[in-house]
Amino acid sequence: QTVDMNLGQIEKGGYPHFMLKEIFEQPACLTNCMRGRINVEHDHVTLSALIDHRSKLLNAKRIIIVACGTSWHAGLIGKQMIETFCRIPVEVEYASEFRYRNPVVGESDVVIAISQSGETADTLAAVELAKSRGAFIYGICNAIGSSIPRATDTGTYIHVGPEIGVASTKAFTGQVTVLTMFALALADAKGTVSHDEYVKTVKELAQIPAMIKDLLKVNDQIADMARTFTYARNFLYLGRGFSYPVALEGALKLKEISYIHAEGYPAAEMKHGPIALIDSDMPVVAIATHNGMYEKVRSNIQEIKARQGRVIAIVTKGDTTISKIADAVIELPDTMDCLEPLVATIPLQLLAYHIAVCKGKDVDQPRNLAKSVTVE
Ligand code: G6P
Repeated sequence: QTVDMNLGQIEKGGYPHFMLKEIFEQPACLTNCMRGRINVEHDHVTLSALIDHRSKLLNAKRIIIVACGTSWHAGLIGKQMIETFCRIPVEVEYASEFRYRNPVVGESDVVIAISQSGETADTLAAVELAKSRGAFIYGICNAIGSSIPRATDTGTYIHVGPEIGVASTKAFTGQVTVLTMFALALADAKGTVSHDEYVKTVKELAQIPAMIKDLLKVNDQIADMARTFTYARNFLYLGRGFSYPVALEGALKLKEISYIHAEGYPAAEMKHGPIALIDSDMPVVAIATHNGMYEKVRSNIQEIKARQGRVIAIVTKGDTTISKIADAVIELPDTMDCLEPLVATIPLQLLAYHIAVCKGKDVDQPRNLAKSVTVE
């Protein structure tokens, strides 16, 4: 008996595209990412980088995160995480800007370089610059042995396996997972988090892969929903706090693979510009979960509806208020505010994927984009 499948199909493990395969791999990838780092009791995180370079990391006066694209969005979440738990000021810079503007950086700084490929030219150049000024460099990368990890003082691999789809998915959640473990481990070492809060967050983080596995059942609902949004020429994504970078990432995913213009905005900034664009042709994805500023995002949704905008709301399971005003609702499992990006990102990846598929676009190889930008 022979099986009628070509090599490409086998590589995709039965999925029509690498991107969908990689979205569905996320529960296993994040488990791999946490393996050996979160103990079996799920009450402690150990990162070897923090053992080897304890005093350097504990005494950092400031952390500067450098990255590009999706990795930069992970950095924005990392900033909130590190500032919340470790009380160290964090700046997040586009590597391409940092490397060309004579930045103030020196020996008391820790620079975190985030890169899936470990080969992005601007991020590598930012690392070399910071290193030449005496900063301590910590890498968060996926590709083992790539250029950026080799140029750093220490780091943590995300261990999510090769990512083939040009639009980054599992690398993003892997990066956010590592940044969360880093913030928790450093905060515990510094004593800037209470033991209870630390244990509670580590335990909850360990549950995230199971939550994502369950959440992925929303795929069929989103595939249906996507058909009704292919007409759009513009999309707006709104979120606040930890959900703001998720809104940016959702917009980037849609833009990259469906070629629909999309912008992510902190929800409160809507009234300083994007509200002018809203009409019945403008779908708005609003992350309006019970954490963060629920009431405020709800009032943004009302303003959008008053202008005939179409709202796709991302809500916490069991929400009854926003479901009544939004045009479409996607439910997320209830988790802690700081861990919500790991779940809220999943439906936005699926939404971008299905809209692009409905439009007949090549989701794994979008036009003009490269998986790894190794030249300027
Ligand atoms: C390219 C890719 C993006 C990626 C960015 C940064 O633009 O298409 O998916 O986020 O580069 O890549 P890196 O490998 O440094 O994370």
